[in-house]
Amino acid sequence: MEITYYGHACFGFKTSSSTVVVDPFISGNELAKNIDVNGIKAEYILLTHAHYDHILDVEIIAKNNDATILANAEIASYYEKLGYKVISMNIGGVKRFDFGRIKMVSAVHSSSFPDGTYGGLACGFLMKMDGKVIYLSGDTALTIDMKTLPYVYGYINVAILPIGNTYTMGIHDAIVAAKFTGTRNVIASHYDTFPPIKVNKEKAQQMFLAEEKHLTFLSIGGTLDVNTFV
Ligand code: NI
Ligand code: MN
Repeated sequence: MEITYYGHACFGFKTSSSTVVVDPFISGNELAKNIDVNGIKAEYILLTHAHYDHILDVEIIAKNNDATILANAEIASYYEKLGYKVISMNIGGVKRFDFGRIKMVSAVHSSSFPDGTYGGLACGFLMKMDGKVIYLSGDTALTIDMKTLPYVYGYINVAILPIGNTYTMGIHDAIVAAKFTGTRNVIASHYDTFPPIKVNKEKAQQMFLAEEKHLTFLSIGGTLDVNTFV
């Protein structure tokens, strides 16, 4: 199973049976200008919330791939009305796929569309894909709920966490989040795209290492085999 970073908080997961893209924001991201949105393959598009920096390229990717959008009930009905295929769920729910399971889990964040439409509750995803457990928190503050996650599918092989501060957790809280989830491996998300979320990457990695956690920065367009995480 492979993870590809498309910049900001957008990740692709290539499983044995499907390709999943989460929170597509590419065409509006100067740092991702080398990524061709039209080249992105996706059978499913997962959305953590309705903010601009998570949904900008949903429609183009959905159209290009006839993809199904999986999101909370409010976001799903928004896209269903526009004619897209959706899977509607809410926090606590689990959907089964050929590659495994996707559970919608809580996040502490807001969620509205750029036009002001209510976007339901922000969420994260706990995913079991090809036997590996991945936690993608979405935009969130540190929350005690994270302690419950390793009780769902067992050890979390890797957590994808925001580290940019200002709108989400910063580095200190992301280290605590790693401890709460029990994982050793964190992939950084939601940093550097805008001035208020710039980070010092080297310092961040040192801070994680000091707490015996490993922080990975994927290059934009870079791919990683999840089997490297034990
Ligand atoms: Ni947000
Ligand atoms: Mn965001």
